Amino acid sequence: MKEKDWRLRVFDSLSFPTLVLRPDRVVLSANRVFLEKVGARIEDVAGKTCHDVFQKFSSNEGLPCSEQNCPLVSTLRSRKGHSLLRTTQDQQGNPQWEERVFSPIFDDHGEVFAVIESIRDVTELKTMERVVAGIQEFMNRVIQSSVSAIVAADCDGQILLMNQAAEELFGWGFHPGIELNIRQLYPEGKASEVMKKLRDADQGGKGKLPLTRMDIVNARGETIPVEMTAAIIYEGTSEVATMGIFHDLREKLAVEGKLKEAQTQLVQSEKMASLGRLAAGVAHEINNPLTGILLYGSMLMEGLADDDAKREKLTCMLEDATRCRDIVKDLLAYSRQTSSSKQVIDMNDLVTDSLLLIRDQKLFLNVTLLKDLSAERLLFSGDGKQLSQVIINLVMNALDAMDGKGTLTLRTFRLEDPHRVCLEVIDTGSGIPSEFLSHVFDPFFTTKEPGKGTGLGLSTAYGIVKENAGEISIKETGAGGTTILLTLPGTQGEDQQRFGLIG
Ligand SMILES: Nc1ncnc2c1ncn2[C@@H]1O[C@H](COP(=O)(O)OP(=O)(O)OP(=O)(O)O)[C@@H](O)[C@H]1O
Ligand SMILES: [Mg+2]
Repeated sequence: MKEKDWRLRVFDSLSFPTLVLRPDRVVLSANRVFLEKVGARIEDVAGKTCHDVFQKFSSNEGLPCSEQNCPLVSTLRSRKGHSLLRTTQDQQGNPQWEERVFSPIFDDHGEVFAVIESIRDVTELKTMERVVAGIQEFMNRVIQSSVSAIVAADCDGQILLMNQAAEELFGWGFHPGIELNIRQLYPEGKASEVMKKLRDADQGGKGKLPLTRMDIVNARGETIPVEMTAAIIYEGTSEVATMGIFHDLREKLAVEGKLKEAQTQLVQSEKMASLGRLAAGVAHEINNPLTGILLYGSMLMEGLADDDAKREKLTCMLEDATRCRDIVKDLLAYSRQTSSSKQVIDMNDLVTDSLLLIRDQKLFLNVTLLKDLSAERLLFSGDGKQLSQVIINLVMNALDAMDGKGTLTLRTFRLEDPHRVCLEVIDTGSGIPSEFLSHVFDPFFTTKEPGKGTGLGLSTAYGIVKENAGEISIKETGAGGTTILLTLPGTQGEDQQRFGLIG
């Protein structure tokens, strides 16, 4: 076959409809596919201008180009190939895409003497592109609207994607091209730890990190506890990116902490209540025989002559019985079995009066006593006598803990919402060892040597404070000393009026 015939056959065999045009738009030739597509013979199109051909044979309305925007002219001018995308509709109204590619044909002098126009139906390609773009858009929306914080990074750790939840959690405003590395989102050394776990097949499978408790760092440098999962994204066997999903644990941990605290308090108050019932039972049983011992002992004493040798022994007996009665009294106070009489009291007055009641003022000899009392009156309704006992017990404990030297501070203040009147007894003593903390309010718990402490001071204080609707707690304790906090509900307007303060 001759060279020329070959070329003609190739032109005719092209699967895209193709025309050969002269610079003046006259059709020189058209291949078979073109003629079949428009339903014409070669003599119907050859010698006509492309405008005429398209207007006559194209099923689509209008020309694919305009005078001002003629791809043929552009190709002649630029001497380079051009393409043009055209959207039309088929008979059912479905969108169709057509790509027209214009390529120059040069003569022996390098001049463009003709242009090949090839028409390609790219509807399928464009439809696929649209579907892919739609899926991408949908995926993007899913990622963006996720309540979990999602972050993706390339192999160098450069952040590629951050959804809104991640922006909020990490505090970074993300935009494409931002210079932000995954290492900036973790505390020092943690990012490489995550990567190591991710590559470890024993940690949930290679390339996967199962739900893990971790700390992250936000843009303000704050450490935030999170639960996270992560994965390596592979292309074949090579790593191309990593992604992590994070859940903020702050709220959950705060709720868990509060729940634990409430549970501990519940256990403690249940323990105190059952100990209270036991103490009340014992105290009642002992109270009657004790009253008898004291009564008959006193009667015996009255009947003895002043120089009777039995006097000394009887005095010892009566002293011990009196001590027993005091213990019973304390036990009854702890188990809230004593009657209380309430009046409106000023906490500042109560502190000053209680200190005067401590008989053995020698105890304060080497102690600096600081009375840091609030300038305003701190009124509350309570049993002054009982609460005075509480303050004395706390002060005595503080003095014991300081072994007679140090600084004892009594600080009063108010808290609002709810309105509370507070007293802190602060010492610079030895502190309470942590293993004793849950026992110090138990009756008879003491670390003092026999005869020095009964272990009823704090338990009595606890009973009295509860009876007066207040709270007593160890606010702080350690090598620097101990702070015991006492809070009582402050009086409302009505009581203040009775006290003559307002109205
Ligand atoms: N301020 C404090 N500093 C250090 N330890 C304290 C303090 N207050 C109480 N404790 C510890 O708590 C224990 C119980 O105190 P609590 O007042 O109930 O009994 P006590 O002081 O030992 O005896 P009592 O008060 O009956 O004489 C004490 O033995 C002591 O170990
Ligand atoms: Mg005590």
